[in-house]
Amino acid sequence: MNRILEKKQLSAQVWQMVLEAPLIAQERKAGQFIILQLDTDYGERIPLTIADADPVRGTVTIIFQTVGRTTSLLAEKNVGDFVENLVGPLGRPTHIDKFGSVVCVGGGIGVAPLYPIAQAMKAAGNRLTVIIGARTQELVILENEMRAIADELVVVTDDGSYGRQGLVTVPLKEFCEQTPPPDLVVAIGPPIMMKFCAKTTEPYHVKTIVSLNTIMIDGTGMCGGCRVSVGGQTRFVCVDGPEFDGHQVDFDQMMQRLGAFRPQEKAAMEAYQADHVCRMQAAAAALLARQTARPEA
Ligand code: FAD
Ligand code: FES
Ligand code: MG
Repeated sequence: MNRILEKKQLSAQVWQMVLEAPLIAQERKAGQFIILQLDTDYGERIPLTIADADPVRGTVTIIFQTVGRTTSLLAEKNVGDFVENLVGPLGRPTHIDKFGSVVCVGGGIGVAPLYPIAQAMKAAGNRLTVIIGARTQELVILENEMRAIADELVVVTDDGSYGRQGLVTVPLKEFCEQTPPPDLVVAIGPPIMMKFCAKTTEPYHVKTIVSLNTIMIDGTGMCGGCRVSVGGQTRFVCVDGPEFDGHQVDFDQMMQRLGAFRPQEKAAMEAYQADHVCRMQAAAAALLARQTARPEA
């Protein structure tokens, strides 16, 4: 059981939570993730990146977007509540080194897993450029945190409501055209964004690391749910990754596999929403009953 110590809303659908997890906090390195289960008997297992950790306090921080049933149930939890099962740290840590000039590109919720990597790249002595992309201004997260560590920060929004208008690949191409080009690019976000970041850097021969968000079940290399094709070979994201050479990943196959359970995910979300409405109605009825009940004279 892991107690929730802090909860903060970062944007309309994005939440940050600090959880008690002393052993994971001591062990974790940038790029690693946990798998959590809200209910050990019936809850599904979902992977979330460790966005930060405090080994002294014994806590890990997660940042997640409510996209379906389990993340919505997690967002309903409050400070003092528990997450029943937390496993980690999982996955291989990011290879951190003094590469020279590193460009970190984050799209949407991908900025959360990117943050600890950007921190570690900066601490290793690299010149750090960060590109943050979001659909619109209210979905931009961790801008102040990234600004505090980056030598240069570029924000782009699809609708132009904040920063530059356009996709992350536009400034990324500009950085690749500079002399010298970046020594390393790290791109994390929706698969389509990572695919086009890799396509952007390939002609410039700039090494590009992507962090893959495949479906995971056990997280220990046994179920095969997270398999991807990298350089023509089958790799397991949970134990061989989550980071891979973006120029080698078969993104089209990965995106196809990510949609394998859409009907089940949709049904689970609809059932959750119906249940949520019932619970809200019951709570409103109970409140009304309390307000209208008159104390005895
Ligand atoms: P559902 O409606 O069940 O699914 C919505 C979509 O989420 C699916 O279409 C699928 O693409 C993905 N998904 C569903 N189940 C799983 C699963 N068991 N494993 C992986 N993906 C799944 N999200 C964040 O918001 N923050 C993070 O820091 C983060 N880190 C991740 C790190 C890794 C290594 C991986 C693989 C994924 C990460 N994700 C992160 C994605 C997160 O796991 C999914 O958004 C979550 O599982 C969705 O669950 P759901 O029940 O709410 O949604
Ligand atoms: Fe089962 Fe990777 S999640 S093999
Ligand atoms: Mg789910």
